[in-house]
Amino acid sequence: MSVPGWLQQRLEAAGGAVPFTTYMDWVLHDPRHGAYGSGRLRIGPAGDFATAPSLGPDFAALLAPQLADWLGELAAADPGPIALVEAGPGEGSLAADLAAALAAGWPGLAQRCELVLVEPNPGMAERQRRCLADSPLPCRWCSFAQLAAAPLRGVLLAHEVLDALPVERISWDGALWRRQQVALRDGPDAQPSLRLEPGEPLEAAMPAPLEAWGLLAPDPRRPPGWSTELHPAIGPWLQSAAAALRAGTLLVIDYALEARRYYAPVRSDGTLVAYRSQRASADPLADPGACDLTAHLCIDTLQEAAAAAGWQALGHCRQGQALLALGLAERLHGLQRLQGSALAEALGRREALLRLVDPHALGDFRWLAFARGGSGPGDSGGPSLPLPRFLRDPSAS
Ligand SMILES: C[S@@+](CC[C@H](N)C(=O)[O-])C[C@H]1O[C@@H](n2cnc3c(N)ncnc32)[C@H](O)[C@@H]1O
Repeated sequence: MSVPGWLQQRLEAAGGAVPFTTYMDWVLHDPRHGAYGSGRLRIGPAGDFATAPSLGPDFAALLAPQLADWLGELAAADPGPIALVEAGPGEGSLAADLAAALAAGWPGLAQRCELVLVEPNPGMAERQRRCLADSPLPCRWCSFAQLAAAPLRGVLLAHEVLDALPVERISWDGALWRRQQVALRDGPDAQPSLRLEPGEPLEAAMPAPLEAWGLLAPDPRRPPGWSTELHPAIGPWLQSAAAALRAGTLLVIDYALEARRYYAPVRSDGTLVAYRSQRASADPLADPGACDLTAHLCIDTLQEAAAAAGWQALGHCRQGQALLALGLAERLHGLQRLQGSALAEALGRREALLRLVDPHALGDFRWLAFARGGSGPGDSGGPSLPLPRFLRDPSAS
């Protein structure tokens, strides 16, 4: 596969190789050449990859009562404005569907609420503006840094955004952990090609989490070449999110694994996947700037970084469990009432709802909720915060 000219020039200017994390940042977020930065990637069943909200408005309709609970607590605690903030809104369809659901179901709350979109990639923000042109809620686009100057009270939603933050790829060489780098090398036909190869040893500061996860001691089940990912961008993101939100809740929804599963010896090549035109590839160097690159989150890393950034954990569960607690089964049942010309719509929605809870795919996503700054009537962000609706047992009500 040939190396795009822009990438070849960047790599040459950097001395021929860069850490994987720099490569991932360039190919996703470069404003001209990156897959998100340029707005080239398309999200949805007819695009490069589908996400839960891109399957239709049922996902937002199920999520809306949870968000309304949280926004309602904030509204009751203080007469000031409230905000629904979405980071990484992609096509903007989740924000648009949520705004419509809030306006229809909770008009009093919607009147006090603005929609704030945090999207660093200009190409994506452009499409979101078009999608949200008729939003019933006032909308604005801001960076976390801008919000930090006048922090909000609200709910922050991060749906499949943390998986787009650049990861560090590391590999074991039999004696040391090394940072993987992407290097420009001559291919078999003497044309420049990309290689993923071991680079510098990890600095002393990096191995702290490795020790906690049992990666420091040599283990014959992790032979030389065993590779995985670390998530250095998660902590700074959570710090910036905390600075942007004076009080409220953060809901992270993403692919995620516990550290013991993420770093299990059997997972010998991490979780990184490239997507293009609905096809997944394990080669992160294929088609740079044209593919999505995504890695699972590590739940332990996320929780530790969230606590360090001042977020109080409210709990977490799998998406299948969350959506069932929020009424997915009743919604499926209700589709039976649609007949005649609405039958095709009912079948499409039924398929989408079942995909959302498929335990081998979207149903295995994790929902992780955090709070800060006294978001509830119990105030404080302390242990008196109510259990999120999606963590309650649906059979108990
Ligand atoms: C995988 S898409 C998810 C889109 C949407 N949330 C969905 O689920 O359909 C990732 C989105 O996050 C954006 N993004 C990437 N890095 C970001 C960051 N540091 N902060 C906020 N958004 C980011 C991308 O441009 C893109 O809009």
